[in-house]
Amino acid sequence: MLQLAIVLPTLNERGNLRRLVERLDAALTGIAWEAIIVDDNSPDGTADEARAISLADPRVRCLQRIGRRGLASAAIEGMCATAAPVVAVMDADHQHDPALLPGMLAALASGEYDLAYASRFAEGASTEAWGRPDRVKASGLANALARRVTGVELSDPMSGYFMLRADILRADAHRLSGVGFKILLDILATVDRPLRVKEFPLHFAARAEGESKLDRTVVFEFLIGLYDKWLGRIIPTRFALFGTVGAAGVAVQFATLWLVLHALMHERFIYGHWSANTRFNLANTIAAVVAMTFNFVLNNELTYADKRLRGFVPLLRGWAKFALTCSLGLLTNIGSAAALKAMGFHDLVAVLTGIVLGSVWNFALSSKFVWGKY
Ligand code: GDD
Ligand code: MN
Repeated sequence: MLQLAIVLPTLNERGNLRRLVERLDAALTGIAWEAIIVDDNSPDGTADEARAISLADPRVRCLQRIGRRGLASAAIEGMCATAAPVVAVMDADHQHDPALLPGMLAALASGEYDLAYASRFAEGASTEAWGRPDRVKASGLANALARRVTGVELSDPMSGYFMLRADILRADAHRLSGVGFKILLDILATVDRPLRVKEFPLHFAARAEGESKLDRTVVFEFLIGLYDKWLGRIIPTRFALFGTVGAAGVAVQFATLWLVLHALMHERFIYGHWSANTRFNLANTIAAVVAMTFNFVLNNELTYADKRLRGFVPLLRGWAKFALTCSLGLLTNIGSAAALKAMGFHDLVAVLTGIVLGSVWNFALSSKFVWGKY
């Protein structure tokens, strides 16, 4: 009877697969296992290689996803695609030693533990062979943050190498975020019942072939995920991003205004004959447009990264819509402040309320009108 499925998420790992299957085979003697390679249609033909291996060894299966991306979601789908009662997830690039698998399986079989995982930071583990002191530091930081926000107390909740009972995973699979790399953390923070976790020290190796897929987007998504868990229910993540970008826009407007007034509109330079008021108004208009454009670009890159507009025409159209939205937002802003002031509220209260209402308006409208399907 099938005992264990090893899920291997892959993105351009063609050169690593064959030897990895050999290493699994060697490590898992006496255990009925299968390997599920979940490949996101890698351009290097990883899925073809997986199928070629599978032809000769049906224990190896390939799940090829089209138009999908992400380590965590690949792991979830792989774990749901097997009948094995126990599932493991590991990197396909030889950084995770398959020799730990039998011990992990035994820990679960004993009935004393629900989840086993390999830690790069446990007593007896090492990361020297990795050869990436920068990443060791970054992982330490990410782990500390993750522990803070989720209350998970493991030495390496960011680990990508773990094993658990499949029924536990499936019961809560629909509640996992499936975003980015943080699959273990996600499981630990999502499953309601307290999981009994056994830690295995890992000698984290250097990647065999190819390169890491952990990029800026993954890091950003990780931070967003933490925020979401931390404050997301009070101030929705997207609105928080939108607001942060807006605040940065205020700084940009001031900086641009100063620059235009003092550097370009110098007495002896052009426009020297204009009155001070005209110069200020012209400079402030330029500054406002620059700030708005800055906000548009940043929101497109960060706040709406998942719906990012690309290409000249869509960007131009989006920018124009954003400008329209913002001018209506400005009316809301000024109008509500004027109304509050007339009702006798303090200036500061009136202005701040105006800013908040204008931002909410901008946010609500642009999320539909600029980045949404309208
Ligand atoms: N299907 C799929 N889709 N697989 C992916 C994707 C994706 O978008 N991105 C990465 N993978 C696969 C890789 O092909 C590899 O097998 C595994 O996931 C881990 O990715 P790496 O690119 O090797 O990650 P790393 O070595 O830089 O990161 C290590 O540390 C992280 C935490 O610091 C890994 O151990 C991660 O698992 C861990 O979360
Ligand atoms: Mn790796």
